[in-house]
Amino acid sequence: MNTYKRIVILTGAGLSKESGLSTFRDPDGIWARYDINDVATPEAFARNPELVLDFYNSRRKGAAGVKPNAAHEALARLEKDHPGEVLTVTQNIDPLHEWAGTRRLIHMHGEILKALCAHCGATEPWEGDLAIDLACQICNKTGGMRPDVVWFGEMPYRMEEIYDALGACDLFLSIGTSGTVYPAAGFVMEARRAGAHTVELNLEPSEGISSFAEAIHGPATEVVPGFVDKLLRS
Ligand code: APR
Repeated sequence: MNTYKRIVILTGAGLSKESGLSTFRDPDGIWARYDINDVATPEAFARNPELVLDFYNSRRKGAAGVKPNAAHEALARLEKDHPGEVLTVTQNIDPLHEWAGTRRLIHMHGEILKALCAHCGATEPWEGDLAIDLACQICNKTGGMRPDVVWFGEMPYRMEEIYDALGACDLFLSIGTSGTVYPAAGFVMEARRAGAHTVELNLEPSEGISSFAEAIHGPATEVVPGFVDKLLRS
């Protein structure tokens, strides 16, 4: 019986790559095709809202057409079958964790299938395109309907809950993330301070590799199910 009582899992774009969604910083990634400052900051939305909305409209269409892969499914199984607590914190805005069955989930960078009114802060499920002339259902103002995603320069969601969980965890897994974007890139150090065992599962060594006690490298659909099976059996 494995003895871990509280597991925190951090996931990134590499987890959804084999479902057909692009990562950000790989050579064929999203930031090789777009400039962050043009599409992923509050200033970009103020300057050129149509460009920003088009970028996320195409990503919303992309996310709607894909399915969870074996790695998402393995993590949902871990949550279901592990006798202790499991919290998944994802940087991904796609819905693949929840579609695979994960329930204790924090979307720290928001969700592409939700809209956020920049005027009143209301959020609502959103499957179609967003446009600048749409009115918010709650405050009725136009011009502020944006994707409910956290842009560079904005505060990620539910940070207090995340730090509480990191401070109490005994196993921390970082999966499919380059370890370049803070605050998520600093989670491994928080987990280490709590005395947790730390494991990186990624295609290749991440920027933060030296902070992890253990690393397993390979495609997520291969290494994650293998790791979960071993953990559940141990
Ligand atoms: N399996 C596992 N890992 C993979 C796979 C795969 N099939 N394919 C790629 N990877 C790895 C890459 O090697 C890379 O280290 O996934 C990582 C993806 O890194 P990034 O593209 O930087 O994505 P992420 O870490 O999630 O980015 C963090 O940056 O711009 C933002 O807001 C965006 O949430 C995102 C944040």
